[in-house]
Amino acid sequence: MRIADRHWRTIWPSTDGAAVEVIDQRVLPHRFQIRRLADAATAAAAIADMTVRGAPLIGVTAAYGLALQARHQADDAALRSAARQLKAARPTAVNLAWAVDRTLARLLQAEPADRAATAWQLAAELADADVATNQAIGRHGLALLRDLKPAAGSRLNILTHCNAGWLATVDVGTALAPIYAAAAAGIDLHVWVDETRPRNQGASLTAFELREQGIPCTVIADNAGGHLMQHRQVDAVIVGCDRVTARGDVCNKIGTYLKALAAWDNRVPFWVAMPLSTLDMSLQDGLAEVPIESRSAREVTHLVGRDAQGQMTEVQLVPDGTPAANPAFDVTPARLVRALITERGVVPATPEGIQALEPWR
Ligand code: MRU
Repeated sequence: MRIADRHWRTIWPSTDGAAVEVIDQRVLPHRFQIRRLADAATAAAAIADMTVRGAPLIGVTAAYGLALQARHQADDAALRSAARQLKAARPTAVNLAWAVDRTLARLLQAEPADRAATAWQLAAELADADVATNQAIGRHGLALLRDLKPAAGSRLNILTHCNAGWLATVDVGTALAPIYAAAAAGIDLHVWVDETRPRNQGASLTAFELREQGIPCTVIADNAGGHLMQHRQVDAVIVGCDRVTARGDVCNKIGTYLKALAAWDNRVPFWVAMPLSTLDMSLQDGLAEVPIESRSAREVTHLVGRDAQGQMTEVQLVPDGTPAANPAFDVTPARLVRALITERGVVPATPEGIQALEPWR
């Protein structure tokens, strides 16, 4: 994707071949900083502290983390230990465990002397596959958007939550892929961007990337979406996901469920962009079974942003000592999801719809 007219991915091998480099998402949109990850522990820490975030991107970062481990020490025990550390970095997005497990399994089959090169190759393939997946999601989502008639005026209004754009993936994005495809196809559209408290991935990241791509957008407080839907100012909601169960329950960033409820009540299509790497066929009941990450209370009690002098600064919102809770994800029951947009097509969020994707393939 473009930033100031240059194409970037969110992760790439360093030119010396000894590390991977990533865009530090903690300081966007105010600073554009590159961070170098030179070993598996640093990659795991970058996932945990959200230097990189978004389900597909943390999976690819973890695969590169294993490759970095294999460069240093490639015996079974060292690889297994790095895999455990990487998988523990964040619990909710299944892409992380999916990427680590499949990379580790392939590495353990290779001769130790070949493992470093094999791991690097596997991580690069995973990164490229992510881009191809997202382009396919974009094409399938575009067909849905073409069928929509704007409720107000001539412009489509799409609402999205959190950041499921190119910053959450290697490139292109999932929920934003149909929006980019529609804009490229000349469809007039505008995006309502939920700010997405507490970490504000919508206000800081989605707004940043949409503006860089020249897509009209407006940031709204998280609580505004229902009101806009009641007034026919939202034609569709498209969100990403961190884990989808075999019966179609969708786990995504906290607050997604409330948008799905409002969309249901107002008959607004609620679509979930889902790469198959986010499908967890081992789970059925999302509410009971998906592990929900609980993050630091400080993300709720404090806000980070840029001050009038251009410095990044943190301010406190609450009275001293006020307790805060910070569940980072919630589960939207399948019945509230109009459809899943996947790289293999658009399907209902039902066991049958998911089986039709042939997820074992
Ligand atoms: O906590 P984050 O920023 O990693 O959460 C990201 C989301 O919830 C995204 O919607 C999801 O990972 C899909 S990204 C294509």
